[in-house]
Amino acid sequence: MANPTLLILPGDGIGPEVMSEVTRVIDWFGAKRGLKFDVSEDLVGGAAYDTHGVPLADATMDKAQAVDAVLLGAVGGPKYDDLDFSVKPERGLLRLRKEMDLFANLRPAQCFDALADFSSLKKDVVAGLDIMIVRELTSGVYFGEPRGIFDDNEGGRFGVNTQRYTTEEIRRVARAAFELARRRGNKVCSMEKANVMESGILWREEVTWVHENEYQDVELSHMYADNGAMQLVRWPKQFDVIVTDNLFGDVLSDCAAMLTGSLGMLPSASLGAPMESGRPKALYEPVHGSAPDITGQGKANPIACILSFAMALRYSFDQGDEATRLEKAVEQVLADGVRTADLMQKGDGKPVSTTQMGDAILAALDATI
Ligand code: IPM
Ligand code: MG
Repeated sequence: MANPTLLILPGDGIGPEVMSEVTRVIDWFGAKRGLKFDVSEDLVGGAAYDTHGVPLADATMDKAQAVDAVLLGAVGGPKYDDLDFSVKPERGLLRLRKEMDLFANLRPAQCFDALADFSSLKKDVVAGLDIMIVRELTSGVYFGEPRGIFDDNEGGRFGVNTQRYTTEEIRRVARAAFELARRRGNKVCSMEKANVMESGILWREEVTWVHENEYQDVELSHMYADNGAMQLVRWPKQFDVIVTDNLFGDVLSDCAAMLTGSLGMLPSASLGAPMESGRPKALYEPVHGSAPDITGQGKANPIACILSFAMALRYSFDQGDEATRLEKAVEQVLADGVRTADLMQKGDGKPVSTTQMGDAILAALDATI
């Protein structure tokens, strides 16, 4: 059988640095576990803009549609701040999500024991935390029409964005959340603002419909998203799976990420409908951004990107055991006290570089076989 195919899009800022470490991990699985991938690489974001004048070339889009999974680093940077909105680096990422129809964005927030002290919250609030945010990724205010900045013809301007959700868009992401919950703690909490938004009322009704008709065995609760944000920092362990819309999911997942100590730790999977192979359309990326302030200094933490590859092993390639092997290797390295700069507190020793973190994870992988 042909090897599964991966398209790597390192992107901007620290993207290429962290992705280099992922490439070494991919090679390790090829050499030591017989899991070989055919890997190709291309440009996205500012890097694509510099070469093609657009943040995602059509040819790259075609490749992304054709491979078994896409791995992305990060997009954006101050150099591109003044670009027209339509060619900003972020548009490349949004185009991938939209055209691949990656409607379910899985953002796990797990607190590794070795980092429980590192969170800005008290240790007993975060120790052992394991929650999953399922963010709707292809609709809502990110894509709704009308949108734009308009003249009001009285010398002023107004900006418009539209929150729009259809029944089917809500039902399909709700199903993804219920399916995940069945394999975890069997609880889903749905978050919206049904107290002020019609789209929130529809969201609540449709999630409830899916629950009543298809997933009565799973426990469902509802929360207003502002309360959800408060509960996430008050007692995050009350949650198992959270399902929410695109914008609330963007905000709540950054908040959840920080519970675990560092944004540099959090992976994500964006999944769409099954392809002919039975595998879902899929893109894997760290939750963190391009971190221009530390770009090129070898300081970036590659763990979020490496754990995103672990998610690819699990969700695209049915290699749950190998994904666990990789996650355990990361856990071991953290338990051994290996720390990139983002994982240091005052008084800690010297941080390791991006590559040294990669070295440590490869050594921990070696020790598993
Ligand atoms: C994320 C990011 C993106 C988003 C940006 C880079 C467009 O913040 O993936 O959370 O807002 O979705
Ligand atoms: Mg975000």
